[in-house]
Amino acid sequence: MRKKYFAANWKMNKNPDESKEYFSEFLKGIKSEIESDFIFFPPTINLMVTANELKSTQISWGAQNIYYKSSGAFTGELSPQVLSKVGADFCLVGHSERRTLFYETNEDVYLKFKAIQSCGMTPLLCIGESLTEKDSGTTIDVLKNQLNLILESLNNKMDWVLAYEPVWAIGTGKVASPEEAEEVHRAIRSYVLEVCGSSVADSLSILYGGSVKSKNCKELFRKPNIDGFLVGGASLIPQDFIEIHEKSFT
Ligand code: PGA
Repeated sequence: MRKKYFAANWKMNKNPDESKEYFSEFLKGIKSEIESDFIFFPPTINLMVTANELKSTQISWGAQNIYYKSSGAFTGELSPQVLSKVGADFCLVGHSERRTLFYETNEDVYLKFKAIQSCGMTPLLCIGESLTEKDSGTTIDVLKNQLNLILESLNNKMDWVLAYEPVWAIGTGKVASPEEAEEVHRAIRSYVLEVCGSSVADSLSILYGGSVKSKNCKELFRKPNIDGFLVGGASLIPQDFIEIHEKSFT
């Protein structure tokens, strides 16, 4: 049975006080046996508050971005080694906003992915096609291209989680249909199988991201290759995010 995840990407939202309030409300709203299903990615400045608020729970957390070097003259960057030292379990990598707004290439994403793993954390790798790529029928080729460097470097002892986030669905309210998302998830898993073999492919959790809400999560989550969600907007209010988990399992 593959691990199911409900991951919250807060992007550049909330300050430390708001994060504290959020977690106090969130923890009141969930039962301890589901804690390990959740991962939070708050902005960097809120990571220590997050570590503190979640320290006696099974909830995982991590950063939205790191640099691939462990220390040195890299003004403004976050070290994966330091992130791991302060207790982070995960780190996002390859989010489409990083790729498009900050010009991260597949090579950058690969270097970051490796740095996250080598510091003992689990990378949550995001891949996804733009609307133009979707319309021109190249979705699977684009995704393969985003995956290649990483797949070639994997072995079956390394933990990682993948999120398929069609760029046209992020923050737009246009969610992929359950059938559409399942078809892509299935194609991704069969490509991972082809390149890395069945132990990597069968155990890989593939999350869907892009306008996930409590009203559309249930049908998506029923699909056999959708192992959870990476949620942006709808993760910002504790009750909305809890409801996504609840509805998914109904
Ligand atoms: P959204 O964002 O849920 O607001 O569409 C998802 C993401 O960017 O990870």
